[in-house]
Formats: sequence, structure tokens, C-alpha cells
Amino acid sequence: MRDKLQQIKNNFEEELKKIKDKNSLEELEVKYLGRKGELTLVLKELKNLAFDQKAEMGQLANRIKKEIKEEIKKAQNNFQEEPRQFIDVTLPGDKIERGHLNPLTIVQSELEDIFSSLGFMVLEGPELESDYYCFEALNIPPYHPARDMQDTFYVDKKNEKGEFDLVMRTHTSPVQVRGLEKHGVPFRGVVPGRAFRSEAIDACHEHTFDQMEGLMVDKNISVSNLISVLQELLKGIFGKEVETRVRPGYFPFTEPSIELDIKCLICEGKGCPSCKNSGWLELIPGGMVHPKVLEYGGVDPKEYSGFAFGLGLTRLVMMRYGINDIRLINSGDLRFLEQF
Ligand code: FA5
Repeated sequence: MRDKLQQIKNNFEEELKKIKDKNSLEELEVKYLGRKGELTLVLKELKNLAFDQKAEMGQLANRIKKEIKEEIKKAQNNFQEEPRQFIDVTLPGDKIERGHLNPLTIVQSELEDIFSSLGFMVLEGPELESDYYCFEALNIPPYHPARDMQDTFYVDKKNEKGEFDLVMRTHTSPVQVRGLEKHGVPFRGVVPGRAFRSEAIDACHEHTFDQMEGLMVDKNISVSNLISVLQELLKGIFGKEVETRVRPGYFPFTEPSIELDIKCLICEGKGCPSCKNSGWLELIPGGMVHPKVLEYGGVDPKEYSGFAFGLGLTRLVMMRYGINDIRLINSGDLRFLEQF
């Protein structure tokens, strides 16, 4: 019986080598393992063997049966039918999610359009600025207490003269003198961009925020030019008249200086954390350019005058969309950003 079993195994292996498709493999399985299969018949004969042979041959037969089953299974995997490739070319493609603009970018480009229509050019300036342009050329010498109003991040890097004088700019105002130096007068320009301050963060204060500087220098410019330009910009951004108030302000680089506040559109003037419970939000400070700043820009203050303002762009975005916490704007949180 041992020889017979071995012969069956050998025959099976020879035949398996010639199998080329799934159907012939099924036939081979039936031939050896089916109800009347060659191996099944031998297994049925086991009961006729003498007791001592029965156990030994039984083990051998079962091992061969197991091996045949495994080989058939392996061969089946080789003949797995490839799924039919069917492409319906008429189906619409997968929709690719489109990105969208940050609310800050939306408002900034609307402002740029408004100012371009008023004849202003759009300028840029460096975020890593020299102490000279950030403070000194704006009439804020090193000992001046106004430096405390804008605590900044000084940078551990020397300039070409080997001095530590680089700061992350605290406002966009350095571009006033840079702009005058480069373009001369008459001058009309706006400068959108980031500013940085070592600030105690809350619902209306960020350490990194955006401003838009505005500067107009020409003959016979007065405060009324400033106020009318600011009103024009607010009307353009809000699409309606918004309640504002103008109060005196102080900046070393403008004289006189003003603060234009907007009635808080989140609480409608009742007081909330976004406006520090005052009902008003400080939005656009400005004033008439200080004669010294004109001089730093190479302009004769006896002949020319000008106004400047420093719009809090991030705060304007808050008011425009009713965002009650400034920290959301730079958070990168898609649940917030996808609403615009
Ligand atoms: C300035 O930065 C002046 N350079 C503005 C200026 C320009 C005055 C030209 C005169 C002439 P101030 O520190 O107030 O001023 O900031 C201007 C505006 O930036 C504020 O009204 C406010 O809207 C916004 N702002 C200031 N600090 C922050 C902050 N930490 N987070 C968010 N917005 C701020």
C-alpha cells in the first residue's frame, strides 16, 4: 500500500505540472480527491488492513491527502481570474477640492483695488527691518519712550556695519521713508503686510498681525483729505456707512495725530471681549506726516505736506466677518477657514 500511495502522489505531481487552466485543475482535484478519486479509494481500503499497518498507512495517506490539497490550493491562486477591466469613460471625474482665499487675503485685495482706483500704488517692504527705518527715520530715537508702545522681537544677527540693529518690524510705517526715498514726490501708496510685536495675546491682540500703511504726500494735503480717504475705504469694505469716531492720538511720526475707531460690529457697541468691552475698536490711526519724517525721506516739508495712516488689517477682517477672536485668523483651523 505504501508503494501505491507514493505512486499516486508522483502521478499527481506529474499531472499538476501540465495543468494550464482552472478547469483542468478542478478535474485533477476530482480525479484524486473526489468521491471516487484515486486517493479516496485507497483511503477506503484502509479498513481492510491488519491492525498494525492500519495506523501507519493511515498516517501516510492523510499526509499525502493534505499535501495534494495544499498544492491544489497554491495552483488555484495562480489561476485566479483577473477582474475584468471596465472603464466607463462617460462617468464624470472625481471632483478635486478647490482651495480658497484666507479672509485676510480677500479683504487685502479688495483694499488694494479701492486704493488703486484712487491712484495709490501698492508697495512692499521687508518684515525683517532695520532699527533705523522701523524707529529712527520715524522720529523715534533710541531713548524715546514711544519705543515702549511697540515692544518687538530683536534679531540676533548683525547688519553690514557689525551692529545688532535688526528687528521684526512692529508696523508697516518703515515703508513711509523707504517709499519716499525710492519714488519721491508726489507720492500715493499703500503697503499691506505683516507686523510683529511682543504682545500679551487676547481676543483682539496677536503677536503677528497685518496692517496696511497708507501715505500721500503732495502740495496742500490736509487732515480733511485723510478723513475722506478713510471714509471711502470703510464704505468700500463694508458696503454701507459704518459708525466711526475720530479722537486725538499720539505718534512721534505724525503731527497732529488721530485715531479712527469703528463701532464694534460684533456687539454693536454694547461691549464684548473683541472690543475690550468698550463698544469701539481702534482701527485706523493716522495723522499729518511729521516734517522730520519728510526730511528723512528727502522731501522738503516747507513745500510738501502729507497724511499717513496705519490700518489694522486683521482687525478690519474681524469686523467685516464678525469674527470674535483674532487668534482664529492665523490658526490654520479648516473648520474656521472653510467658512469663507
Ligand atoms: C501703528 O502701528 C502706527 N504705525 C500707525 C500709524 C501709521 C500712525 C501712520 C500714524 C501714521 P498702532 O500701534 O496703534 O499704530 O497700530 C495700528 C493698528 O494696528 C491698530 O489700530 C490695530 O488695529 C492694529 N494692531 C496693533 N497692535 C495689534 C495687535 N497686537 N494685534 C492686532 N492688531 C493690532
